[in-house]
Amino acid sequence: MATTADELREEVRRRYADSARAVTDGNSADCGCGSGSCCANGDSDTSKFGEALYDAEQRGELPEAATLASLGCGNPTAVAELREGETVLDLGSGGGIDVILSAKRVGPKGIAYGLDMTDEMLALAQKNTAQAGVRNVHFLKGVIEQIPLPADSVDVVISNCVINLSVDKPAVLTEIARVLKPGGRIGISDVVAEDHLTPEQRAERGSYVGCIAGALSKGEYEAGLEAAGFEQVSVEFTHQVADGMHGAIVKAVKTRESKRKGLRVAQPAAQAGYC
Ligand SMILES: C[S@@+](CC[C@H](N)C(=O)[O-])C[C@H]1O[C@@H](n2cnc3c(N)ncnc32)[C@H](O)[C@@H]1O
Repeated sequence: MATTADELREEVRRRYADSARAVTDGNSADCGCGSGSCCANGDSDTSKFGEALYDAEQRGELPEAATLASLGCGNPTAVAELREGETVLDLGSGGGIDVILSAKRVGPKGIAYGLDMTDEMLALAQKNTAQAGVRNVHFLKGVIEQIPLPADSVDVVISNCVINLSVDKPAVLTEIARVLKPGGRIGISDVVAEDHLTPEQRAERGSYVGCIAGALSKGEYEAGLEAAGFEQVSVEFTHQVADGMHGAIVKAVKTRESKRKGLRVAQPAAQAGYC
């Protein structure tokens, strides 16, 4: 069992490398921890995670392999209202589904970046992007706690079921604020807990690598974003994924005047409940 943050991150990386390999070998993204989506637990219902969260029109724009590799808990491109010419960054881009959709929305004058730490996922995303025929895409290898892009360079940050997996959520929110242009926005899908659930209760409901145990609560998300310099913060539950835990849409706008303060976002118990 992982005990340090580095070990936990490595466990997450291995889990999603397995998932990418499964899709590359022609199977669904089931990776031993549960049925259906990898970003779930054994008793998961596939309508709560993955490709079912995209409408038929969006699925029609994607290569089948990209759809099969979908491991998210929402559909961030549907909420981010992307405009032509914008620069978008997808944190934890996995098999590339949201990068491909974003690239199509922002058009040839825009750019869609995908950032992921897992080589196997990056390779899968490159393959899917080539099949989709989109060219305004760049994949970056790295961690979302240290985004390899300059300050004030991105219009929109999206992410789909990844921030709950981070071992340092305050660093992620600070980094998002750093790379966004003043007035830039986020459209994030993530698993979020009801405020009354303690970190231990979240861990009882599912594993860390399965996107449950590491989830922030609604209040922790809101406070973290405000501390990082965001306004118009909203965290809206969309569908229940476990008792008291929900797929949620997280929206916010970076203040035009940067007022980054020290972040104090509670880290849920990372040490319990892996599979
Ligand atoms: C649950 S999957 C979601 C993938 C994709 N967003 C989707 O909707 O299909 C999580 C992805 O985030 C990546 N990831 C997890 N933690 C990360 C971190 N700290 N830095 C960079 N990538 C990370 C994993 O490699 C994996 O590809």
